[in-house]
Amino acid sequence: MPRSLRLSFPDAIAALEAVGEPTRLRLIALLSEAELTVTELTAILGQSQPRVSRHLKLLVDAGLVDRHREGAWAFFRRSERGAYGRLAQDILETIDLSGAELAADRRRLGEVRAERAQAAEQYFARHAAEWDRIRTLHVPDSRVEAAMLAMVGERRIEALLDIGTGTGRMLELLAPKAARATGIDASPAMLAVARANLERAGLRNVQLRQGDVYALNPGETGFSLIIIHQVLHFLDDPARAVREAARLLAPGGRLLIVDLAPHAVERLRSEFAHRRLGFSREEIAGFLDDAGLDPVASEALSPLAGEGDVLTVALWMGRDRRRQTDAPFLSQTSEVA
Ligand SMILES: C[S@@+](CC[C@H](N)C(=O)[O-])C[C@H]1O[C@@H](n2cnc3c(N)ncnc32)[C@H](O)[C@@H]1O
Repeated sequence: MPRSLRLSFPDAIAALEAVGEPTRLRLIALLSEAELTVTELTAILGQSQPRVSRHLKLLVDAGLVDRHREGAWAFFRRSERGAYGRLAQDILETIDLSGAELAADRRRLGEVRAERAQAAEQYFARHAAEWDRIRTLHVPDSRVEAAMLAMVGERRIEALLDIGTGTGRMLELLAPKAARATGIDASPAMLAVARANLERAGLRNVQLRQGDVYALNPGETGFSLIIIHQVLHFLDDPARAVREAARLLAPGGRLLIVDLAPHAVERLRSEFAHRRLGFSREEIAGFLDDAGLDPVASEALSPLAGEGDVLTVALWMGRDRRRQTDAPFLSQTSEVA
């Protein structure tokens, strides 16, 4: 077993001590099911907030739980990587989770999730009309998504990042092909909708983070595939966003940009907050080049007969120029050749 999957003796004692307490073991079990806030955990466990926070801090300090802030909220999730992730998983797999206390926790977790989904749906309902309206302006999503899947290819994606994930649609489409996936968006409201959608889709390998496209900090680099779908036209500096994305790619990793081709529908600015009226092939090629990526594929989806006078959507794929040094290992697991 690799050394990175082993804990030192003192670290193992600290981790086992942290988990060796009823509330903390319940927390580990709950945080394996979902990413949760202190408020949600307090409601599920029926304990005071300071108490729950104290237990969470011990688990975070021991490396068994990851914490990340999203605006005023902090989300907690069971650590899934490295030796701590393995230890937490081994402990859970060894325990009979059908006991009364843990089963009651899971039932209350179900109620919390249902409330969360309802709140997100209400938000979505308020904005759905707008989104449906914009969809009717370009070629059908089904064509765009089929073209994206074809361009991404069959190989397994080791680490996927979706920048400006919105309601998480791209993660729903591509996370099933990925070992792990992360979605980033500036809007907590959008992320709330995404969280509900991804839970409904049963995608457990996805993390969502609040973040800005110009200051990405998803806690790691080395993504094998990054998606920027219908986001660049909102931005005042799309080239910078592409450079920032490229910085997070693994050597040989790929960036797939999907956006509108150049158009003249000025009202997209006034009605939908677009800054840019689409992008030409040359402009995107320049962005990719500046970011150290080679253009490797592109496709323009113009309207077909019967689709009406709708806007063309284009796909552009760039690949990181650095050579992979660990190709023989990665070729078994990653989609990067
Ligand atoms: C039209 S939505 C596209 C969502 C998603 N990619 C999709 O296609 O379903 C654009 C998203 O970009 C996000 N966004 C806009 N500017 C951003 C920024 N500076 N940093 C992060 N996200 C941003 C918005 O919050 C919104 O969710």
